[in-house]
Amino acid sequence: MPSPIDDLLERMTLEERIGQITQVDRTAITPEEVAEHAIGSVLSGGGGNPEPNTPTAWRAMVDGYVDASRGSRLGIPILYGTDAVHGHNNLVGATIFPHNIALGAAGDPQLVSEIGRATAIETAATGARWTFAPTVAVPQDPRWGRTYEGYGQDPELVSALGAALVAALQGPGPGIDVLACAKHFIADGGTTWGTTGGAQWVEWWRRAYGADGWHLDQGDARIDEATLRAVHLPPYRAAVAQGVGSIMASYSSFNGTKVHGHRWLLTDLLKGELGFEGFVVSDYVAVDQVSPDYREAVVTCLEAGVDMVMVPFDHTRFRETVRAAVLAGELSSARLDDAVRRILRVKAAMGLLDGAEPQLPTPAVVGNADHRALARRAAAAGAVLLEDTAGVLPLDAAASVLVAGAAADDVGLACGGWTIDWSGGRGAITPGSTLVDGLRGHLGDRCTVTGADDEDLTALDGHTADVGVVVVHEEPYAEGMGDRASLALDAAQLRQVEAVAAVVDRVVLLVYSGRPLVLDPALEHADAVVAAWWPGSEAAGIADVLVGRVPWAATLSVDWPEQDPPTGAVPATAPAPRWRRGHAHHATG
Ligand code: GLC
Repeated sequence: MPSPIDDLLERMTLEERIGQITQVDRTAITPEEVAEHAIGSVLSGGGGNPEPNTPTAWRAMVDGYVDASRGSRLGIPILYGTDAVHGHNNLVGATIFPHNIALGAAGDPQLVSEIGRATAIETAATGARWTFAPTVAVPQDPRWGRTYEGYGQDPELVSALGAALVAALQGPGPGIDVLACAKHFIADGGTTWGTTGGAQWVEWWRRAYGADGWHLDQGDARIDEATLRAVHLPPYRAAVAQGVGSIMASYSSFNGTKVHGHRWLLTDLLKGELGFEGFVVSDYVAVDQVSPDYREAVVTCLEAGVDMVMVPFDHTRFRETVRAAVLAGELSSARLDDAVRRILRVKAAMGLLDGAEPQLPTPAVVGNADHRALARRAAAAGAVLLEDTAGVLPLDAAASVLVAGAAADDVGLACGGWTIDWSGGRGAITPGSTLVDGLRGHLGDRCTVTGADDEDLTALDGHTADVGVVVVHEEPYAEGMGDRASLALDAAQLRQVEAVAAVVDRVVLLVYSGRPLVLDPALEHADAVVAAWWPGSEAAGIADVLVGRVPWAATLSVDWPEQDPPTGAVPATAPAPRWRRGHAHHATG
């Protein structure tokens, strides 16, 4: 007796099967074309927002594609995917949680679970039921621009937190609420410095953004199988055991072979040994990198084990290429059918094939007070007290406090990359509460906000206080654009620390960043040092730990370098870090 999936597959034409494995960016297809070509998925890439960028506009956009797909010959609905990686972060007004590196420092699977549920609710409220999360990278080199997307350097921690997010997003079952996507399989965080290459856009980005990018991201993981298995595989074992429905292949290579075209990795290891029964989705334009011959690239990736291709633009070329390859016998029908079957199985588990209208939350739930309170709690929970030699913290109830630093009152600088736009950005890019809001709430007029920052220190003139809270920051970035040869603070940010130190008795140095930074010259002027990471839209939570309303709990989930690693590959005998994974002042006894 054929299963309902096999029965449906049997009824699908070759064009419909090819359409089902095709994922297209929203900017490259209309709802009518989705129905015409029986497309399987549409996505919003980073910053892929409707105009206006509101919950109701998102819902109307997504519903437009879903409704059209239901009108196709067989009525198989699309899956709409988006990068809701720290909340529904493309959407203005959504709750933005701290990035994973902060959640790794908090090290609390229950907190990650609560964040996952809130994210699933806000994402589903806009009709999108697939998020490309969790990133379960195990970042080895903090110069990597995606370090902040990882929970940390301990495979067991990454496994526990990644599985917690998968469970929370997909829900208690039996159906899948919002499809999770563990990424990027495999060893995306284990590449060697200077090995990025082979992608047309990397050259474009380097020209556009300068050479200090794309040195690690999408590079080559030159590691042996034992290291692959010990460091990078455990989070996928945990995600598969948790029932993750999709896994995204990594742009990077494994000892010189692109993962997207690596059959042993994608099929033998992931689907065979780990028993993964969901589907593998490619990354954005990643298939094209596998060979200069597009047809060869497509066939290689599909035969290696990619099941759905994030084309994401010229879907006609992709579909025609697959059709020609099947008819020429270059791509086996059995492989195509296996890919379609995997996708249909997941859609069935999401209730997408039973014809019922899913009961989704209303857009009004986006950014609600409970979710923002959770985000504020998470910001506090992820902040690591690195040093407090003079016992400056918690801030004395009677102390006068002055605040400096561009990020102190800037939601965009607190959210970091993957926020509203792909790379994020400065300013009031979305509603939220800042460190300044939090400190003012606790300290009232004992908190003087100078407005001084790394561009204008004159605002400090005439000010003095018992304690100065100075925030240094990284400008937001995403992916390889954030690859940096040096993690040192720039001179302007160092100057602001010195300038604040000159007018106060004690200095609290607060670091907003996607990764550890080389702080050393600034440390001479700091009595206390706090890693706040990118705390999200409710950075007021950082004030809660500074005043002692919330106890310090977080510990580093990554080593914190004292100096920049030498340019190039990290040497086997890398210099000892200033603070090791597991460090926190309160944990030093
Ligand atoms: C990006 C990223 C991936 C993301 C995808 C869709 O290039 O590598 O993490 O999910 O494209 O935006």
